[in-house]
Amino acid sequence: MARINANYQKLRAGYLFPEIGRRVRAFEAEHADARVIRLGIGDVTLPLAPAIVKAFRDAVDEMGTTSGFRGYGPEQGYDFLQDAIREHDFTSRGVSLDRDEIFISDGSKCDTGNVQEIFGAECTVAVTDPVYPVYVDTSVMAGRSGAAGSDGRFAGIHYLVANEANGFVPEPPASRVDLAFLCTPNNPTGAVATREQLTRWVEWARRNDAVLLFDAAYEAYIQDSDLPRSIYEIDGAKQCAIEFRSLSKRAGFTGVRCAYTVVPKALTGTAPDGERIGVNALWLRRQTTKFNGVSYPVQCAAAAAYSPDGLKQTGEQIAHYMENARLLREGLGAAGFTVFGGLHAPYVWMRTPQGMGSWEFFDRLLAEAHVVGTPGAGFGPAGEGYLRLSAFNSRENVTLALDRILEAFGS
Ligand code: MLT
Repeated sequence: MARINANYQKLRAGYLFPEIGRRVRAFEAEHADARVIRLGIGDVTLPLAPAIVKAFRDAVDEMGTTSGFRGYGPEQGYDFLQDAIREHDFTSRGVSLDRDEIFISDGSKCDTGNVQEIFGAECTVAVTDPVYPVYVDTSVMAGRSGAAGSDGRFAGIHYLVANEANGFVPEPPASRVDLAFLCTPNNPTGAVATREQLTRWVEWARRNDAVLLFDAAYEAYIQDSDLPRSIYEIDGAKQCAIEFRSLSKRAGFTGVRCAYTVVPKALTGTAPDGERIGVNALWLRRQTTKFNGVSYPVQCAAAAAYSPDGLKQTGEQIAHYMENARLLREGLGAAGFTVFGGLHAPYVWMRTPQGMGSWEFFDRLLAEAHVVGTPGAGFGPAGEGYLRLSAFNSRENVTLALDRILEAFGS
């Protein structure tokens, strides 16, 4: 009898974004003439930067020649991409990494889920609430939780509330936890952790022999160079943290797929007999067994994002999205809405007007302003009463969406 993984039955029926897509499609089917503006899922809208397109195209051409053809690539990614990453993302910030501490992959979403299998099933997990749903759902799939309660929280998972009182950056857990997901700049709230806050997280992880799963997918949106972009800018982090980075939001790769995960060789976990085992070797073992790498043209395209032209062009794209975030944040704020985020992240986190529930506001926003947001409750019970607006869109759409929101819900 092929028993299913019953952990899947604990999950809510659908993942958040497909559910939003379903509601939007249903609305559009009934209102064919409505021009719906999508500020829901955080998906980039600008085309790939010219430097990236050129490198991508050249690499495809190279693959079509006898001398330039390549089959399976190096397991952890091509040296040229690892070196560009090391130089630009780490050395420039005072962090030294070895090449073999960087694993090129096809996405941080996959990596944050997959990484769990190198840790024991009995490991406990902490997440913030609200949270990127992938951390919770993959923890549930891996059997690290009990059933969901009536508030949507899963038994056995430690939820750390991110709210207005703590600036949406919770302190580390008070109790012992083995694995802790931390995303900064944060999806969904747009909050960013300071050096002091991250230092407390690293100290906590080291004291508790816990592993921090640090998701820095939005680091390119940090506007203040004093704010840390990598957890490894904090002393001692190499002993306790894995970092996830992505080209999705930073270089428009949501459809191209390229990311990387850093697993320092100094990071160890405990075997059942108490022996300390290097986590880097386990992740290499996992990846080489279950993953065949990212294609050569995609890695060339990714490396081009780090070239002088690529950095300039993608920097302009980020500035475009951040200007959208500013318009949303300031426009809504000036009209009396309570808004957060949008300063170092492409997400604006707004309190729903008149104390409306998140999904109620989502539905009314769609029906009355033809604007799609993401209901805060979809990110966890502490997101109830909020809605996330994504800055990934054209200037025209963002200003039009803002006008419509103010018209429909402004006082
Ligand atoms: C989001 O909207 O939260 C993101 O697009 C999801 C993701 O990056 O997977």
